[in-house]
Amino acid sequence: MTTTALTHIAQLVTNDPSLGEGPLGLIQDAAVVIDGDRIAWVGASSKAPATDNAVDAGGRAAIPGFVDSHSHLVFGGDRTQEFNARMSGRAYSAGGIRTTVAATRAATDAQLSANVAHYMAEALRQGTTTFETKSGYGLTVEDEARALRIAAAHTDEVTYLGAHIVSPDYADDPAAYVDLVTGPMLDACAPHARWIDVFCEKGAFDGDQARAILTAGKQRGLLPRIHANQLSYGPGVQLGVELDAASADHCTHLTDADIDALANSATVATLLPGAEFSTRAVWPDARRILDAGATVALSTDCNPGSSFTSSMPFCIALAVRDMKMTPDEALWAATAGGAQALRRTDVGRIAPGARADLALLDAPSHVHLAYRPGVPLVTDVWHRGVRV
Ligand code: NIG
Ligand code: FE
Repeated sequence: MTTTALTHIAQLVTNDPSLGEGPLGLIQDAAVVIDGDRIAWVGASSKAPATDNAVDAGGRAAIPGFVDSHSHLVFGGDRTQEFNARMSGRAYSAGGIRTTVAATRAATDAQLSANVAHYMAEALRQGTTTFETKSGYGLTVEDEARALRIAAAHTDEVTYLGAHIVSPDYADDPAAYVDLVTGPMLDACAPHARWIDVFCEKGAFDGDQARAILTAGKQRGLLPRIHANQLSYGPGVQLGVELDAASADHCTHLTDADIDALANSATVATLLPGAEFSTRAVWPDARRILDAGATVALSTDCNPGSSFTSSMPFCIALAVRDMKMTPDEALWAATAGGAQALRRTDVGRIAPGARADLALLDAPSHVHLAYRPGVPLVTDVWHRGVRV
């Protein structure tokens, strides 16, 4: 296997406190050795072992590749007009999802696949090396299974979200739609997915429906995650904790009991500031969640309706500026936090044995991701040991 050393890294974020300073395990003037698709060694640049190749990072910072644990990339069409109307004063509602459902059903497999590839490549250029994506714009047995098959060709982190909204075809009989989602649709979708998700919200699925859907998925070997407490207070977060969901996503409207439940669980609170930004909604209170001791991840929620960004650096900048996270907390949440939200230990850190996923920044420190918002600071990305 070929070994490569990246040397003269001004500041390396390992996310391993045993390797460096503080919770981010920071090492100054560092080197990283990549062997095949794995990290083989990290330490002081002056002590780097001999390798086949060397890359001089030239005083730039290095961070683990971002782990974007929540996106909806299998879609057709776009919702420019809805965004434009919203920015002209109209409110966001879950109803716009129907527009994308119609466009997704009308799209060919090749169009949907090209769409996923396009936005994943866009994310990779911005440093995202692990990407979760969901179905949820098909809402028929065939269209949901097709979405997952297409997603699975691009990533291992695939989520069945047949329960995004009640299909318009079942508007008069939501209970029959839940039966479909937990029956024939689950049968068709489970082989292509790792996760099951449900949008637990007024106008989508209530707590009892969400419990039935996630429980049926668990029985089929899928792992639960949940869209919870995005637009209003509700049962989603506590249901997620009860079912040991890897993550409760959005967490915008939380009671003290919701926060307690998260803090005493293995469920990560995944915050999606792109959604609040693009819908002009109130920010999740990251400070309150972190101060209670819960684990926070940051993710893009990339989708054509509520958050059409693939940029983790943008989400970090919002989290720091508007959600009162420190730059260190935000960087951790966008890397190690995302890994925890996907129950992964091989990504989200730069340590021996981890997957060789990392990004170099045109900056001396990761803090510049928030300090210099909107600037494309990611200059080089390694994914599975390959420079992309
Ligand atoms: O995470 N919350 C539900 N689903 C998406 C929105 C999808 C859409 O508007 O198309 C979200 O924000
Ligand atoms: Fe979402």
